[in-house]
Amino acid sequence: LGMRHDLFIGTAVDMAALNDPADPQYRQLTASQFSTVTAENVMKWESLEPTRGVYNWGPADELIAFAKQNNQRVRGHVLVWHNQLPGWLTSGVADGSISTAELRDILKNHITNVVKHFKGKIWQWDVVNEAVSDPWDTPSTLHYKGFWAQHLGPDYVADAFRWARAADPKALLFYNDYNIEAFGSGDPANDKTQFVYDMAKQLLAAGVPIDGVGSQGHLGTQYGNFDTLQVAAALKKFADLGLATAFTEVDVRSQITEAMENGDSNEINPRLQASAANYSVLLQACLADRHCLSFTVWGFTDKYSWVPNWFGSEGLANIYDENYQPKRAYNLMKGDLIYS
Ligand code: G3I
Repeated sequence: LGMRHDLFIGTAVDMAALNDPADPQYRQLTASQFSTVTAENVMKWESLEPTRGVYNWGPADELIAFAKQNNQRVRGHVLVWHNQLPGWLTSGVADGSISTAELRDILKNHITNVVKHFKGKIWQWDVVNEAVSDPWDTPSTLHYKGFWAQHLGPDYVADAFRWARAADPKALLFYNDYNIEAFGSGDPANDKTQFVYDMAKQLLAAGVPIDGVGSQGHLGTQYGNFDTLQVAAALKKFADLGLATAFTEVDVRSQITEAMENGDSNEINPRLQASAANYSVLLQACLADRHCLSFTVWGFTDKYSWVPNWFGSEGLANIYDENYQPKRAYNLMKGDLIYS
């Protein structure tokens, strides 16, 4: 009772899969099961501008057209990140042919060009992604990490939001990161959620146009569960700053054992159950907070998941298996929506 029905449910979209004539089911489920979509890769800088000054808008424009056709909203991912940068940019900086002053101009132009190109078509932009270190990084004290902080200093974050706002005043501008599902879930002196919270607060106090914080939600069953109250409390703290929130990249992976590979259901089923429980916790917390605008899964089928490529022996992270059979997580999500 009192829950909402206006939550947007989304997925990251793999454009190769969407266009694969041998796999019509991927396109059909992407169109029918979701009310918002995110480009898994084709709006990243290396895809949009593989050669300096030569933009490749095709695949991203195709996703926008697909979304329009299916009455879906689009989350733009991502304007500023340290990964999937084009080679001309990273090598130019490395060999000194691109100076710091020029790099700042290049970033400003990139944000301006991309946001203007998609103006009016993007609901939420991930303006800055993963700018903050983790407690396991060196040094372990949380800090602004990666290519952009290293070359431009932390002020690039505020600049990026200002440039994005100027290019499309109506898009909602998000900071997006992982491991920020709850406060105090790790080392209290090194709490990444708190660091991001403090950053957002400072940005707002300085008049920087940030509208929301996206919590990616890449979880693993081997790390234990959050509970709904913990997650809801984090969403509320961000909302109390006046920010929107969203879950932007949810998946819940498991370690794959040899027995699981051989189909041992005694090992598989508890993982599927635990995965579903984690999906449900994030979804319930989001449903309970009207400032939480969308709940996006990072791909919906194990067939194309980034997880095995990245973690080797982990998988089973999505809500459909690799043969498009809905898993317990799918049923829980569906139930949550129907009965809420
Ligand atoms: O496009 C090339 C292709 O030409 C080549 O043949 C193939 C061979 O490896 O690689 C292809 O590029 C891969 C690309 O995905 C497209 O499939 C890259 O190697 C691979 O590294 C890249 O992985 C992506 C990853 O970001 C890279 O950082 C994943 O698909 C994508 O799911 C993942 O998404 C990120 C979010 O953007 C931010 N949050 C974390 C999340 C998971 O890492």
